[in-house]
Order: sequence, then structure tokens, then C-alpha cells
Amino acid sequence: MKINILEDYQELSQAAATILIDRVKKNPKSTLGLATGGTPKGTYQQLITDHHQNGTSYQHVTTFNLDEYLGLAGENPNSYRYFMNAQLFHHIDIKIENTLIPNGVTMNTVEECQRYEQLLEAKGGVDLQLLGIGSNGHIGFNEPGTSFESRTHVVDLASTTIKANARFFPSIEEVPKQAITMGIGTIMKSKEILLLVSGEQKKAAVQRLLSGEVNEEFPASILNQHPNVTILMDKAAAGQGDRHRVLNGSY
Ligand code: PGA
Repeated sequence: MKINILEDYQELSQAAATILIDRVKKNPKSTLGLATGGTPKGTYQQLITDHHQNGTSYQHVTTFNLDEYLGLAGENPNSYRYFMNAQLFHHIDIKIENTLIPNGVTMNTVEECQRYEQLLEAKGGVDLQLLGIGSNGHIGFNEPGTSFESRTHVVDLASTTIKANARFFPSIEEVPKQAITMGIGTIMKSKEILLLVSGEQKKAAVQRLLSGEVNEEFPASILNQHPNVTILMDKAAAGQGDRHRVLNGSY
């Protein structure tokens, strides 16, 4: 696991964008796994700036998002489809049909999950997966207790997740209670993983991740067993008192 501590959120976003741009330049047909939430917003802004200034092209890139709320259509401003269009896709030259996100208003969730896995497989899997981490250790919407073998599936969101995400909704009652998410097994098949962690509220999660325990009660802990993970975190997430334990480099 490579760990890189950045000064602040701005630097973290720049560092993440630099890695993504590098991979897309090396392989213009890259398949990128993308994430929503507060953390990757700055990264997407940097990708847009770079696209306009330097012309990095996404014409041949395919993307798969980690998850989508059940019950929200793409036109709903709180859906992850809407988020991705607004935060990234509409501002770069990616073909919208090459941007895959689970269908939150599918009539058949079982089929939708299977379809998503098949699409991923047909593409040869994700080359680089961008990830955030929940304070409870969730990755995607895989909450504590999810099987490490899980594939794309429907989840009941943890009450802590509903609370954390209520900040994006007019009221907590409007946060969907379920979502479709790539499974942990799906995420682990990515060839490379880039985990972004920002802010003091993630400090405890970072410490637990780096303790080395691998436990389904803390979903992100499986990343300790992935051969190619880079963690970018800002100083706030690293925790000032932890600098002796969490150093730049590998462990
Ligand atoms: P955040 O969410 O980026 O909004 O903190 C990350 C997550 O819950 O996975």
C-alpha cells in the first residue's frame, strides 16, 4: 500500500487528478471506476481544468460508477447520475454512453446488478478505481458486515451513512434507504485502486485501515490485501499526532 500525505484538500485533489490523467494518457482506452460524495469533487474540477487547458481527451475512456441510490432517476439532482454529469461528464469530451452507473429506477434490481457485472466483465474490468471511505469503513455503499466476496448488489444503507449523506438532501427523510453498489469483490478486481481521504472526521477510519486488521466489519480493511493501492490523504485525515505512524511511502 502506498501512502501519500498531502498538505490539504486542494493538494490532495491535484495529486489524484495527476494520477488519473497519467493513466488516461498512457492508455486512452482506460476503464475508470469513479466515485461520488464530497471527496472526489475537487479531483473532478482538476480534471476539467486540465481538459480545457491541456486537452487531455476522454473520447475513448469508459467509466463505471460505484453506486446509485435506489428510487432516484438520473434527472433527480440527488442521484449519482446527476452528480456525475454535473461534476464531470458534461465538462469533458467523454461519450455519455460510455459512462455507466447502476440504474436506480430499474424495475428488476437482480437483473440490473447482473447487467452491471456483465458490462464490467465485457470491458475487462476496471483499470483504475477511485474510492472514498465512509467513517464506518464503507467502500462504495458496502456497509460493515458485507461479504468480501460480494458482487454488485442492493444494500440497505446504514443509519450513519444516511445521516452523513443528509447534508446533500433537503431533509434526512428524503435520503433513500437503499442503493445498488458494486460489491467488495467487484472493487477488489480493479487492477489499481486510488483511495482519497480528506478531513479530520476520517482520522479514525484511516487509523483502523492502517492497523492492518482485515475484517468484514470494516469493509475498507480488505484493501490491505490488494496488490496495487495508493492512499492519498490530507494532513487532517492523517492526524497530526499520527505522523510517526503514517509516513509517506510504503508499508
Ligand atoms: P465523502 O463520502 O467523500 O462524502 O466523505 C465518502 C464515502 O462515504 O464513501
